[in-house]
Amino acid sequence: MQKLIFAENWRIGHKQIDEEHEELLKMINEMVDDIEEADVVKFGESLAFFCEKVAIHFDNETKIMSALGYEEQKHENMHSDLLKELELISRKVEHGDFDRTLSIVFDIFVKKILKGDIYFADYLRNINYVGS
Ligand SMILES: [Fe+2]
Repeated sequence: MQKLIFAENWRIGHKQIDEEHEELLKMINEMVDDIEEADVVKFGESLAFFCEKVAIHFDNETKIMSALGYEEQKHENMHSDLLKELELISRKVEHGDFDRTLSIVFDIFVKKILKGDIYFADYLRNINYVGS
């Protein structure tokens, strides 16, 4: 799998959330290195660490959202479903095809983690949010 560059249209307009999303992508790119170096143990550790970081990110995001008056139960449900999904993937990793595992993780990142924040990005625009 090729390394990926954070796309400008992935930014949702909240500094901390955007920085955390960039950090998550950086971790995915580091897992590309683990695969290239055929470091299976490190890949497993990196994936477990990634899952921890996603959980922390979701927690921070929920706090930020509710501080800004954005309450969305569906978003919280999505967070817990995604954490379960990632946990299942990381548990299976020792038997797996690492390239495939990483492309699934990347798909979850782009199609679910980032995409799920689109509504919050709209909300921030609607309230003319300009804070950091
Ligand atoms: Fe997010």
